[in-house]
Amino acid sequence: MQLAPDGYPATPVWSYDGTIPGPVIRAAQGSRLQRRLVNTLEVPTSVHWHGIRIDNAMDGVAGLTQNAVPPGESFDYAFDLPDAGTYWYHAHTNSMEQVARGLSGALIIEEATPPDVDRDEVLMIDDWLLDPDTGLFVDDFAAPMTRSHGGQIGNLVGVNGRYDYSLSARQNERLRLRLINSANAQIFGLKLEGLTGWTVALDGMPLDTPEPVTDTLVLAPAQRMDLIVDITAEEGETAGLLFAAADDTWRVLAEVSVEGRAASVPRGAPQPLPRNPRMEVVGVDTAPVLEMPLQGGAMRGLESAAFNGQKLTWQELVQQGQFWALAGQAGLGEAPFATLSRGETARIRMTNDTIFPHAMHLHGMHFRTRKEDGSLGPLRDTVLVMPNEMTEIAFVADNLGKWLLHCHMLGHAASGMTNWIMVA
Ligand code: C2O
Ligand code: CU
Repeated sequence: MQLAPDGYPATPVWSYDGTIPGPVIRAAQGSRLQRRLVNTLEVPTSVHWHGIRIDNAMDGVAGLTQNAVPPGESFDYAFDLPDAGTYWYHAHTNSMEQVARGLSGALIIEEATPPDVDRDEVLMIDDWLLDPDTGLFVDDFAAPMTRSHGGQIGNLVGVNGRYDYSLSARQNERLRLRLINSANAQIFGLKLEGLTGWTVALDGMPLDTPEPVTDTLVLAPAQRMDLIVDITAEEGETAGLLFAAADDTWRVLAEVSVEGRAASVPRGAPQPLPRNPRMEVVGVDTAPVLEMPLQGGAMRGLESAAFNGQKLTWQELVQQGQFWALAGQAGLGEAPFATLSRGETARIRMTNDTIFPHAMHLHGMHFRTRKEDGSLGPLRDTVLVMPNEMTEIAFVADNLGKWLLHCHMLGHAASGMTNWIMVA
């Protein structure tokens, strides 16, 4: 793929069906999705369907819900789609490397009655760390320096596989933009220019009331955000989605070139999207609280943590390439972090004792954040926990099986920040 601008070499990639990102998979809410993974890589792999309230056996987590699929073999995924919304799929075997090399794509589950928009656009936001001389991905995926700090940040940012992604639209046209952060570790700060927008869904799940976009939007790794935007710029004016670059300037991420006019006036606030089933999280106030401190990393370290059934000191953990722990456990332990009975409401209090932000993702079920005053946030599957902050998530454990709870900064997940819960 030509990821870098013309004049730079092309990049050898790993891909689904030959493109980066992989093909957009669209299916109807309530239908069943079937896809055969045929592994023509030279390494084992598996596919995770991020955010789908899925049958556990189809969750794609090598070593927990299935064996990784060896080279030359295949695996049939088939599962029901209870929820409409914006989801994505990506490799879940050695994800740090496989996702960085290109193994991800959008998964869009359509409402029976779609909202009143003129167009529906998927914007998969990614970054790539390329060697400018060779075009190759910089392949020190296990670099301790990156893993123990913020994770791997690319030197090129793009949308749908292009650093110069653009689309054209007419003035007062209404677009649904489905933003997906498929980057390895980068948290994007985003802003609209020449567009008037509302956030209508987070991580696939509709908000009760669309929220006008007035400020910077924050999209952490693996998070999604559905916006409904009206093109309010005049023909010839610049419009689009901007991102905050490392040097604190706003750069264009997706340019919208305004050509012609769709209507003489914009449409006004959109209606909320139809609710998905089982969106209520009940009995939160009386549910037991499970403590999950997020621990480790550069500058803080750990006194000790369990790893592969042994209690190791910080020195020993570092020798094993482990820099992080969740509640004293580095990597998957024999025993789950918690065993919940089906239908039980659970609360997990994640206290970030590190100096880095972490995008914590629960598989199989969506949760709501619970503030100290007891109020509940929107349904999500991935939440950004900032340094020295405490974020409590509450969810109904209504999906049977073994579910990962991990940081979606993929280098963190690979070096300790992965745990699991059991719903029995
Ligand atoms: Cu999007 Cu465990 O992953
Ligand atoms: Cu992390």
